[in-house]
Amino acid sequence: MELNKDISAVVTGGASGLGEATSRALAAHGVKVAIFDMQAEKGEKVAKDIGGVYCNTNVTNEESVVAAFKKAREAIGQERILVNCAGTGNAQRTASRSKDGSIKHFPVDAFDRIIQINLVGTFRCIAHSAAGMLTLDPLAGGERGAIVNTASVAAEDGQIGQAAYTASKAGVVGITLVVARDLAREGIRCNTILPGLFNTPLLQGAPENVKQALGAQVPFPARLGNPNEYASLALEMIRNPYFNGEDVRLDGAIRMSPQ
Ligand SMILES: NC(=O)c1ccc[n+]([C@@H]2O[C@H](COP(=O)([O-])OP(=O)(O)OC[C@H]3O[C@@H](n4cnc5c(N)ncnc54)[C@H](O)[C@@H]3O)[C@@H](O)[C@H]2O)c1
Repeated sequence: MELNKDISAVVTGGASGLGEATSRALAAHGVKVAIFDMQAEKGEKVAKDIGGVYCNTNVTNEESVVAAFKKAREAIGQERILVNCAGTGNAQRTASRSKDGSIKHFPVDAFDRIIQINLVGTFRCIAHSAAGMLTLDPLAGGERGAIVNTASVAAEDGQIGQAAYTASKAGVVGITLVVARDLAREGIRCNTILPGLFNTPLLQGAPENVKQALGAQVPFPARLGNPNEYASLALEMIRNPYFNGEDVRLDGAIRMSPQ
């Protein structure tokens, strides 16, 4: 898909990190962008910078997502692009013993919360966006739309404590080919990026020596990923019409150790 001013996009999690970088990169090509996020102040600022629209959205809430797509489409038209970056994590061993001998386990409601945000929230936005894309005429080449999701290398090598995060991201990897197959006859593609360690607000609060130590674990380049490098792959997945049904690691060849 050619990126230009006639194309609209929705980026979830677009107020920060990988989603913000992707929103800015799309806008730099003239694409009109709607940012779906829960951080109103940051989201409004990014939207203002790029001439887009901010839609306060909780991807775990059906009514919130429906209202956000309505607002976005009224402001910038029906999107042909959806990039799903909204997500978060938590960490706790499945079951563990404390020094005092007490035993605890991963709270199942906390497990469910991560699945709701990262997996169900991603699928909710895919389903609503794809239904909207079906109302559009195809572009030259028969293409109606393109979807990019964000999983994590944890989908394949989750670390200690990441049962919920890994399950949610493996779910995103798992649905990629199915969604691509479901939507193929309508000319809508679906791909997923599995980022390694990226320098986003998730990590920016960490001390410099911790970030350097994390970056040094990456075979090459031995540093954290730059969000612009994520955005570059997301845009290539959107632009290249033969890119479909793929889950691609973007990780400097890192394979995560157990911890
Ligand atoms: N940064 C990394 O190293 C890394 C690595 C692998 C995967 N990821 C994934 O990339 C995605 C983006 O992460 P990031 O590093 O840019 O983090 P980030 O915290 O900078 O951005 C995530 C954004 O998602 C938003 N969000 C969270 N829950 C939401 C909800 N329920 N509804 C709407 N918006 C919500 C947050 O407000 C935030 O703006 C996440 O899915 C994360 O799991 C990040």
